[in-house]
Amino acid sequence: MKILVTGGAGFIGSAVVRLAVARGHEVVNLDALTYAANLENVASVADQPGYAFEQADLRDRAALDRVLADHQPDAIMHLAAESHVDRSIDGPGAFIETNITGTYNLLEAARAYWVAQGRPEGFRFHHISTDEVFGSLGETGQFTEDTPYDPRSPYSASKAASDHLVRAWHETYGLPVVLTNCSNNYGPFHFPEKLVPVVILNALHGRPIPVYGDGGNIRDWLYVEDHADALLLVLEKGELGRSYNIGGENEAKNIDLVRTICAHMDRLRPDAAPHDRLITFVTDRPGHDRRYAIDPTRIRTELGWRPSLTVEEGLRRTVEWYLDNQDWWQPLLARQGVGERLGKA
Ligand SMILES: NC(=O)c1ccc[n+]([C@@H]2O[C@H](COP(=O)([O-])OP(=O)(O)OC[C@H]3O[C@@H](n4cnc5c(N)ncnc54)[C@H](O)[C@@H]3O)[C@@H](O)[C@H]2O)c1
Repeated sequence: MKILVTGGAGFIGSAVVRLAVARGHEVVNLDALTYAANLENVASVADQPGYAFEQADLRDRAALDRVLADHQPDAIMHLAAESHVDRSIDGPGAFIETNITGTYNLLEAARAYWVAQGRPEGFRFHHISTDEVFGSLGETGQFTEDTPYDPRSPYSASKAASDHLVRAWHETYGLPVVLTNCSNNYGPFHFPEKLVPVVILNALHGRPIPVYGDGGNIRDWLYVEDHADALLLVLEKGELGRSYNIGGENEAKNIDLVRTICAHMDRLRPDAAPHDRLITFVTDRPGHDRRYAIDPTRIRTELGWRPSLTVEEGLRRTVEWYLDNQDWWQPLLARQGVGERLGKA
C-alpha cells in the first residue's frame, strides 16, 4: 500500500512510519513540523526509496489537496494533532484549529480525492484518537467502543469532536473510514514534556521528579511500537465505519510507574540511587481525569491483536533508550515550554 501518514514526525506517527516502511509499504509523511516534531524520529527510513516527506499544515486545505494529487495514496492514517493536555489548558486555540478544523480539512480533501479516483473500495481513512474522549472512570469498569463520550480537557474535547466528524463523513458521504482510540503510549522518541521522559531525564539530572496531585491517577500504558502494529492491522483488516479500542492491558498508578522508572535508574546509574528521593508531589492538573482503562475485547477477538510487551519490559527498553540517545533528546530541551510547569490554569 501507499500510505499517507499525517503527523509522521511526531512520537506515534514516526513509529507508524518506521514500521510501515519496514513492512514494505510506501509512505508519504505529512507533517507541519511544530514544536513537537522531530525529523530525527524518521531518520532511519529517510533514505528508503518508498519514503517521502511533505511539510504541510492541516490548516492549509490547498496543501492537502496538492499532496494527495501528487502522491495518490491508497490510504490515509491521520495522527497529526496537538497532543499535550497541559498545553491545551494554557492555549486551547491551536487544539481547535489543528484537531478539529485540521481534521475537517483533511476529511474534505480526502473525500474530494476519493471521489475523483472513482470511489475505490479499498481506500481507507484511518483516524487515530485517544481513550481520553471517554472521560474519567471510577475504581472499576473499562472503556468499550460503546462508552458515551465525556471529554473533560480542551485536548480531549477537540479529539472527541474530530472523531465525530470522521464518523459523520462516513455516514453522510460514505467515506471509507476506520477509527481507533488508544490508551497512553510510551517508548523511544517520546517528546520530553510527557510524563515518562520527564521522569527519566529529571532522574538522570538529579532534578525533582514532579508527580501531579497524589500520584493516584491510573493510566493503561502501551508501548508505542505495539500501538503502531495495532494501527497497521486495523488499517488492513478493520471493518469499515467501526472503531477499535487499543489498550496495553497494563493499568498502573502514576506513582507506581514513576517508582518503576526510578528502580531502572537505580540499576543503570547506581551511584545516584535511590532516584525515588527526587519524587516531588506538585499541584494537580485542573480537571485531571482519575482513571482510564481500555476493554480490548473487540480488537483481540475480531482482529486477534494483543500487546507484545508488559509495561515492565517496555519501561526497561525505554529507560535504556533514553540513556543511550542523549543526542536525540538534548536539543529538544531548548524548545519552547519544555521543562516548565504548564497547564496550571
Ligand atoms: N501520546 C499518546 O499517548 C496518545 C494516545 C492515544 C492517541 N494519541 C493520538 O495519536 C496521535 C499522535 O500523538 P503523538 O503523541 O505522536 O503526538 P505528537 O505531539 O508527538 O506528534 C504530533 C505531530 O503532529 C504534527 N502536527 C501538529 N499540528 C499539525 C498541523 N496543523 N498540521 C500538520 N501536522 C501537525 C506535529 O508536528 C507532530 O509531528 C494524536 O492524534 C493523538 O491524539 C496519542
